[in-house]
Amino acid sequence: MSHRAALPAPEPPAGPVPADPSGLPGPAGVSVEGLRVHRGKSTVLANITCNIPEGRITGLLGPSGSGKTTFMRALVGVQKITAGTVTVLGRPAGDPANRHDVGYVTQAASVYRDLSVLDNVRYFGSVHGAGREEALAVLNAVGLSDFAKRRAGDLSGGQFSRVSLACALVGKPRLLVLDEPTVGLDPVLRAELWTQFAAMAAEGTTLIISSHVMEEAGHCDTLLLLREGMLLAQLTPEQLRQGGETDDLELAFLRLIQAAAEDERKAAS
Ligand SMILES: Nc1ncnc2c1ncn2[C@@H]1O[C@H](COP(=O)(O)OP(=O)(O)OP(=O)(O)O)[C@@H](O)[C@H]1O
Ligand SMILES: [Mg+2]
Repeated sequence: MSHRAALPAPEPPAGPVPADPSGLPGPAGVSVEGLRVHRGKSTVLANITCNIPEGRITGLLGPSGSGKTTFMRALVGVQKITAGTVTVLGRPAGDPANRHDVGYVTQAASVYRDLSVLDNVRYFGSVHGAGREEALAVLNAVGLSDFAKRRAGDLSGGQFSRVSLACALVGKPRLLVLDEPTVGLDPVLRAELWTQFAAMAAEGTTLIISSHVMEEAGHCDTLLLLREGMLLAQLTPEQLRQGGETDDLELAFLRLIQAAAEDERKAAS
């Protein structure tokens, strides 16, 4: 069997113009054009152009160091960029007018260790006008109801990172950017969270979720595949399976990476 990742041409869309090359219809929640980022002396993101559809789950996948966190930082406006434009919900990334509409959960949980779980969520909720009831509902959604009164610093690693997630969810942002939210979680909780993300997308929230676990890619509507700071492809999980000629998303991604490396070698020779 060929290991060439021959990507299928997306079906021509019927009706609305697609927001991304994988063919999903709808307006773009995020538009990125010619994004280039340098960190230190190296180019960390090289000329990335893509549209991220609203009300969908977009998975950001790539090996460690491929630029996922840097890309997310650029989307939420905390990353100095070298070139290009990033438009989020119709405004430049980082525009203060988007403050209540964009939630960002970093890889390192930002939670007050000395506050209780509930007080952490209430604190972040108060910024968005959310009260105790909303905070409790969000804790339930992330499976932390039983820990509401526990000091955050006394939680396990997976519980602690879920407090951070709850703090982002409580504001009901229109765009939620989550950097590896399922790391350190057990399979049951992981599945529950993906169900929760799907429910949020169904209600119109735009979610951008990074992971390097390819099996999680199957939960996403569209995927951005990064390698060494470059956008290798934007496609649906199904298109990735077809292109890689396997149902195994991890293997399909590996084949895509190998094919890209082969093309680069050929171009260089
Ligand atoms: N402050 C920094 N200064 C210089 N280089 C940096 C800095 N932060 C990150 N980098 C480099 O930028 C590249 C992309 O890093 P980034 O954190 O975006 O990757 P990632 O895909 O999120 O990786 P991981 O899966 O390990 O979280 C890496 O090579 C990293 O070493
Ligand atoms: Mg990262």
